[in-house]
Amino acid sequence: QKPVDIDELGLIVRRAFHVRKLEQENASLAARGNDDGYILGDIITGAPEMLKIAQMVERVANTNASVMLLGASGTGKELLAKGLHDSSDRSDKAFVAINCAAIPENLLESELFGHEKGAFTGAIKTTEGKIEQADGGTLFLDEVGDIPLPLQVKLLRFLQERMIERIGGRKAIAVDTRIVCATHQNLESMISENSFREDLYYRLAEIVIKIPPLSGRSGDASLLARHFQKKFAAEINPAVKGLAPDALAALEAWQWPGNVRELENRIKRAVIMADGKLICAKDLDLEVDEDAATDLLNLKAAREAADRSAILRAISQTSGNISNAAKLLGISRPTLYDLLKQYKLQQAS
Ligand SMILES: Nc1ncnc2c1ncn2[C@@H]1O[C@H](COP(=O)(O)OP(=O)(O)O)[C@@H](O)[C@H]1O
Ligand SMILES: [Mg+2]
Repeated sequence: QKPVDIDELGLIVRRAFHVRKLEQENASLAARGNDDGYILGDIITGAPEMLKIAQMVERVANTNASVMLLGASGTGKELLAKGLHDSSDRSDKAFVAINCAAIPENLLESELFGHEKGAFTGAIKTTEGKIEQADGGTLFLDEVGDIPLPLQVKLLRFLQERMIERIGGRKAIAVDTRIVCATHQNLESMISENSFREDLYYRLAEIVIKIPPLSGRSGDASLLARHFQKKFAAEINPAVKGLAPDALAALEAWQWPGNVRELENRIKRAVIMADGKLICAKDLDLEVDEDAATDLLNLKAAREAADRSAILRAISQTSGNISNAAKLLGISRPTLYDLLKQYKLQQAS
């Protein structure tokens, strides 16, 4: 419109850029949510809760920020750490993982920092530690809450100075290793008990990503079950061709305290145990509440679940913008608000 109002024009152009960016993000999200449900390489999901996490991981991948992955055991922390590495510009260098809880305290220092020949009895040759092995790449410190206090100090020094010293070494070595860590422990309470250093925590947790349990990912139990069924059938028992409806209902109703790892194990066992073409509920050894299982076959409940999932997906794709989410869903804003209330969905962004 003439005459041109410069402020207004600026606003319109900025808005156009913003809309374009949203469209691109939506397109890339849609492209990732393909039929097999693969995202970030090996991670399988169709759940908006996880797509959002994948988006976050991709955003932070190319920064050097240290990332802390929080989630219960079996939620895929290590897989996500690998996905982060693979989508970063460090992907052509090493991804090295170490489980701090699995290594005896007296060996952990040498595992992380390496040692010079003769540094201690049994140190027959100079050995690089994991931090050095991951130079240029990514080190995944699993169960970081289990690092003993003296070693926490040494790790902190590395994070501050980006230099390490091997045990028995006399020189500091510059190392460019990006740290991704994970724990299932409550580090905040460890900090208040003085068993985890607060300064180290802030160095490790520049970005914190909380991974939802499997029970909080709509539809993923079935999706993952099909994936593992195909995988283990091919490896172990090719006669098994699929999952019976009662097995699928049982899978959706189960709470999965051990998350994806438990699901993987149960499907593996079921593939071994199945005597027909299809895995049935009893092969999965799940004691499921019958009511909850039949609820999933109920049409009204199924529709509600589909609504819920579409709404969550739209909200996550629009980063919590209700107007844009309503547009994506093809409904009005007030209708979306009503549905959010009806389904008790929090309006988290
Ligand atoms: N979303 C997923 N898709 C496919 N496999 C998964 C997924 N999440 C976890 N897994 C598998 O489950 C197991 C446990 O995953 P892991 O990353 O070790 O979990 P955590 O480190 O959180 O305990 C691994 O075998 C992993 O490959
Ligand atoms: Mg793990």
